[in-house]
Amino acid sequence: MGGWRETVGAIRRPLAPGISGREALEELVRFATLAANSHNTQAWRFALGDGAITILPDFTRRTPIVDPDDHHLFASMGAATENIVQAAPILGLSAEPRFEPDGDGRITVDLRAGETVTTPMAAAIPKRQCTRAPYDGRAVPETDLRTLSAAGRGGGVDLMLLTQRPAIDAVAALVIDGDTVQMNDPAFIDELKHWLRFSYAEALSADGLFSAASGNPVLPAPVGHALFGLFVSADSENKKYLAQIASSPGLAVFVSEQNDKAHWIAAGRAYQRFALQATALGIKHAFLNQAVEVPEVRQRLAEHLALGERRPDLIVRFGYGRGDAVVAASPGCERPGVTVSAPRQPFCRLALHRGNHPLNNWIAEMGRIYRDLTGKEPGTSVGAPERTNKGQAGGPFIGFLQAASRPLGVGQSPAAWRKRARSVIPALK
Ligand SMILES: Cc1cc2nc3c(=O)[nH]c(=O)nc-3n(C[C@H](O)[C@H](O)[C@H](O)COP(=O)(O)O)c2cc1C
Repeated sequence: MGGWRETVGAIRRPLAPGISGREALEELVRFATLAANSHNTQAWRFALGDGAITILPDFTRRTPIVDPDDHHLFASMGAATENIVQAAPILGLSAEPRFEPDGDGRITVDLRAGETVTTPMAAAIPKRQCTRAPYDGRAVPETDLRTLSAAGRGGGVDLMLLTQRPAIDAVAALVIDGDTVQMNDPAFIDELKHWLRFSYAEALSADGLFSAASGNPVLPAPVGHALFGLFVSADSENKKYLAQIASSPGLAVFVSEQNDKAHWIAAGRAYQRFALQATALGIKHAFLNQAVEVPEVRQRLAEHLALGERRPDLIVRFGYGRGDAVVAASPGCERPGVTVSAPRQPFCRLALHRGNHPLNNWIAEMGRIYRDLTGKEPGTSVGAPERTNKGQAGGPFIGFLQAASRPLGVGQSPAAWRKRARSVIPALK
């Protein structure tokens, strides 16, 4: 986990004012890649020109199951565009994006000399992240709702802020319907797994979704892929989403006037402004797009919200919560900007342990899985005096560790597992 925090810090360092020329463009690209993007595929390429940055779609990174028409891909490019627009004034530039609807999907951002200013939204760019943990339920004050509403509309995109519980619950029901369809679709699961990163090492590899960011365990990659079906199901996901929504005082639904690439880009820009403004106000947010990703459910959502021909683009919940740890990032070379946030897990004090970090991390996460699967706390008691295994380690949790570690080639005696588990999991001490 060590190199990982430094990497996050490097990618998320603030923009240094006073730079110009190519360095300024490169730094603006770094800031662009801090934008939200679907499945963290970073399906974009950047080309630097004379006073311009071009953002090109990278169709090799499409996600055809969850995003068959590339709506999310273009919305993600829009979010990256918005970061450049917001960040340019830090460097004394003003940014003007252009999009040719009949072209190859590129967005050209022209940069000209402008006023030097750092707005709260620009300052929020390196801090903005999705927070998928439950929130604390506190209502957002009216004045802040108005500020969010102003930030999150424009360019043919409207923003509906739902803050009344019946209105939130009606959309939540559709999110659950969409999630149920997706979680029961093997092709969706395969695509999701392709982009999931289970271990710290994988998360550093440069793209994809770090499983910890969704509250799932950090595991060695092969184990994570093999066990995914054990710790994730439609039921468990739906329960998690319902709890998350119940903890959120509001939902934001972004709706575009027309269903075309220009408006998908505009929707991504509108989301990014909303998210930056929320971050500046200390408000957390996370996407719940299941109801706009499944066409049949999206249709029902549009009818429910009386949208007519307009497309509901994106759904975001928002509210207040504890500060999240920034837990992963790419090395910042070819594909910078892979960053995810994770809800704090009860076993995440692992960073404090010195010595054999990967194994200790693994034990702690196995403890969490054991608890999730069995409903019992992981135990390390030894055989009782009257038993034949008197004083010996070998209870169910130790057996679980032994069985799960076998494919990894990490052989340890039951006593050694017990000793290590007791040093890693505070509850076992
Ligand atoms: C168009 C779009 C759709 C997204 N859909 C979802 C979603 O349905 N569920 C989710 O948890 N995150 C979703 N995300 C968030 C991305 O997973 C997230 O932005 C990415 O992993 C980078 O992490 P960060 O936003 O915390 O920096 C979406 C992002 C975008 C731009």
